[in-house]
Amino acid sequence: MTFLHKHILGTRQLSAQDITMILDTAESFKEINTRDIKKVPTLRGKTVVNLFYEASTRTRTSFEIAEKRLSADAVNISASSSSVVKGETLEDTARNIEAMRPDIIVIRHSASGAADYLARRLDCSIINAGDGAHEHPSQALLDLFTMRQHRGRIRGLTVTIIGDITHSRVARSNLFALTTMGARVRLAGPGTMIPPGIEKLGCEVFTSMEEALAGADVVMMLRIQLERQGRSLLPSLREYARFYGLNRDKLQLAREDALVMHPGPMNRGVEICSDVADGGQNVILEQVENGVAVRMALLYLVSGPVADNP
Ligand code: CP
Repeated sequence: MTFLHKHILGTRQLSAQDITMILDTAESFKEINTRDIKKVPTLRGKTVVNLFYEASTRTRTSFEIAEKRLSADAVNISASSSSVVKGETLEDTARNIEAMRPDIIVIRHSASGAADYLARRLDCSIINAGDGAHEHPSQALLDLFTMRQHRGRIRGLTVTIIGDITHSRVARSNLFALTTMGARVRLAGPGTMIPPGIEKLGCEVFTSMEEALAGADVVMMLRIQLERQGRSLLPSLREYARFYGLNRDKLQLAREDALVMHPGPMNRGVEICSDVADGGQNVILEQVENGVAVRMALLYLVSGPVADNP
């Protein structure tokens, strides 16, 4: 089977076959990350530019490690130390980078649609490392990889995602990918943080965290995206933590063996208590570990034979 996507812009465009191929490819790459010499020549001669307009610890480091482990030449550009601060537009910046003939640009940007905008204008492959509140496909795929690793399947799992759904690209990418793969998705949070009509995308919506947790196989906690909220959507962080923070008592409402996930960065004491974040059911650092293998798979697959359109 051939992977027919030149770009990875979101999980919405991915079929169940695409997602399965990405997860299976990541599975085959995962072992490389445990070797003494963590390098294979798969992408030798390819150049990847990591163009980050927003802060990142996990995604940027993970992509760079994935590129280096596949022997690609990796170049990092931060908006804060580039000519963006002199007023250069996204399109001009991207066209100038493209003139140096990279094979792939990995982009994170605060504007929803930024990755798609570049994909329509440039010849190289584009991988979306997070665009505004729109999508964060590599995060969702590593989340699915981690669920499959623990449960052996995605189909039939009940996945509860709790927090600032409106501003969460992680929630959107997970919603698309999980429903495509046959999971049941529950979204929960204050009414001010849930987009109206989102249930039309095939999920259940709850404002009661307790109801959303009942019998869940996976509990995914989200950070409140204060940097994306134009106005305050909650009375106080203390009140938010009381009603929507995960602690040991609330976790007991989920299945006994429920996985606790978080994309990071965590606000301990707000959406998650330390005894849960560090407790026996958490797989948070496994998510980070699996992110390298999943990003290796994405870089490899977009470098293969492609169709004209994503
Ligand atoms: N999960 C995630 O996107 O983390 P970073 O913002 O650190 O990349």
